[in-house]
Amino acid sequence: MTIHIDAAPGDIAETVLLPGDPYRAKWAAEHFLSDVRQVNAVRGMLGFTGFWQGHRVTFQGSGMGMPSLSIYVNELIRTYDAQTLIRIGSCGAMQSHVGLRDVILAMTATTLSSPSASIFRDVNFAPCADWSLLRAAAAAAESHDVPTHVGGIYSSDTFYDERPDLNEQMVRHGILGVEMEAAELYTLAARYGRRALAVLTVSDHLETGEALHHDLRERSFSDMVEIALEAAFA
Ligand code: ADE
Repeated sequence: MTIHIDAAPGDIAETVLLPGDPYRAKWAAEHFLSDVRQVNAVRGMLGFTGFWQGHRVTFQGSGMGMPSLSIYVNELIRTYDAQTLIRIGSCGAMQSHVGLRDVILAMTATTLSSPSASIFRDVNFAPCADWSLLRAAAAAAESHDVPTHVGGIYSSDTFYDERPDLNEQMVRHGILGVEMEAAELYTLAARYGRRALAVLTVSDHLETGEALHHDLRERSFSDMVEIALEAAFA
């Protein structure tokens, strides 16, 4: 047990999928897993372990933002020995060729600051996805009827941004979308020699201001979970 996860040793699978929203973890476990057990409820950050096509999988909520994700991922790696960690979440599109409901596979995650930033001092560490997962997810996405983009994303500390100039620079440098967690996930995976990937669906568009209607979010989430599961066990 850890401070934030009260699962018993062995209750967490080697493969952990991390939605930000704990109710998404519950939904995904109910829809995709068999023999499911709830393994965490501390602070309502629900976690579930079960089987997908014979493979053991945990869905664990990570919360919003890098400080929250950092707590769960540190504990999942250091105490429960998680080996493969895939964020499944939403992002805002930053390029005109990226549409609502499209999938983004985050090859890199640029950030201004993360909970890990202080250990790098002046070095701009480049957090990147695990290649085997990225390649498998790109192949899995091809078999789903959903437009998919592979490239850099921006992990921001703020949803309500007071610095539009920063977003402008991200757009200018080809960043596909903005979310708030992947850079810290990739950095922790690098530090501990684990595999990590962020599979994201576009829920809103920064250029047009469009946002995905609630009804369609579930369908998009489902595609993303399937791509992440197929990639994890490819
Ligand atoms: N997650 C989904 N949409 C986002 C946005 N516009 N900014 C930051 N994180 C997001």
